[in-house]
Amino acid sequence: MTSSPTRQSIAALLAEARERTLALIRPLGDDLLNRTYSELLSPLAWDLGHIANFEELWLVQTVGGRAPLHGDLGQYYDAIENPRRERGELPILHDAELQAYMSEVRERTLEVLDGVDIGADVDDPLLREGFVYEMLIAHELQHQETMLQLLQLLDGYELPLPIGPEPLAGDGPQTIVIAAGEHEIGAPPRGFAYDNERPRHAVELPAFAIDRTPVSNATYIEFIEASGAEPPMYWERDGGGWVDTARGRRAPVDPAEPVIHVSWHEADALAEWAGKRLPSEFEWEAAREQLDGVGQAWEWTSSEFRAYPGFAAFPYPEYSEVFFGAEYKVLRGTSWATHPRVARPSFRNWDLPQRRQIFAGIRLAEDL
Ligand SMILES: [Fe+2]
Repeated sequence: MTSSPTRQSIAALLAEARERTLALIRPLGDDLLNRTYSELLSPLAWDLGHIANFEELWLVQTVGGRAPLHGDLGQYYDAIENPRRERGELPILHDAELQAYMSEVRERTLEVLDGVDIGADVDDPLLREGFVYEMLIAHELQHQETMLQLLQLLDGYELPLPIGPEPLAGDGPQTIVIAAGEHEIGAPPRGFAYDNERPRHAVELPAFAIDRTPVSNATYIEFIEASGAEPPMYWERDGGGWVDTARGRRAPVDPAEPVIHVSWHEADALAEWAGKRLPSEFEWEAAREQLDGVGQAWEWTSSEFRAYPGFAAFPYPEYSEVFFGAEYKVLRGTSWATHPRVARPSFRNWDLPQRRQIFAGIRLAEDL
C-alpha cells in the first residue's frame, strides 16, 4: 500500500469484499448453499458463517470488546477444530438466520470502526495502520477463492463477475536466467502482509533458469502419455482426447492453457520427466517481476512451508505457525480466482502435496 488506510477507505473495502461474496452466491438457492459436495470442500453456508464469525471475533469482540451475538456458536466455525468433511453436520446457521447474522455482524463492525483509531502511530499493532481490518478483508477475499473451488463445479454456474487471469503475453524467451546473487525475500516492514511473509531478509541464490510460462495442458498430456500419470482433477477421457468437466460444463481441454488442478506429487514428477525441477519459493520470488502467466494458477514450489529467520507469530499462531513444517508445500503466485488485492509478490500459500482441488499448476526451473 502506498498510503495509510483511513476509516472511510476500510469501510469501502469491507463493503466491496462483501458485495463480491454475495454476488458469487446470488444465483444459488438455500438448498445449494447447504449441500455438501465433497470431503474436501465445505458447504457454502459454512464459509459464509465462518466469514461473518471471524469478522465478529476480531472486529466486534476483540476490537470493540463486545459479546458475541450467538454465544459459543464460533466453535463450529473454527477452521482448525472442524475438518471440511464434518462441516455439513455441524449445528451452524442456515438460510434467513445466516443472512441476518452476516448483516448484524457487519452493522456492529461499522459501529466499532467508527470509534477506533487506526493511525500509523497507534501503539496496538493490531490497529496500527488498520492491520486487523486489512486482515479481515483479505480473509473474506481468500474465502471467495475457496468458495469458487466449489462454485465452479455446479452445473451451469456462470461467474457473475469478470473473474479471470490475464492472458499469457505469448512472446519472449522460453526461459528467464537469473544470475547468482543476493535477493530480498519477504514483505517490507510497512503495509499489510501476513506474519509468514516477514521479516524481509536477504537470501543468496546460485544462478538458475526458470520457464517464462507455466506448464501447458499440451505438455501435461504428453507427460500422461509417456508416464501413465494421473490426469488433472476433473479431466475425463473423451474419445481420443480429454475434456475438462470443471467450470460447470464439459469442454475440450485447451492445449495452450496452463495446466491446473494437479497435485505437488504430479508437479514434481512432471518436472523430473521434463529433465527439470520445481523452483524453490525464493527462486520464484526473485524471478517474479519477469514471469509471464502469473495469476492463471497457483504454482507449486519445491519449498516446505517454514518460518523465515526471526519470524514472530502475529496476530495469532493459528494463521501460519501451526502449519510450519515438512508436511506442507508452498505455492506462489495466484490463480484466476484470486482477488488482485491478495496478490502480493511475497504472498505464500501452502497446502498438502496430494491436494488437487485448489487451482494449482506448475512452472519449471533448472540449475545453471
Ligand atoms: Fe478462514
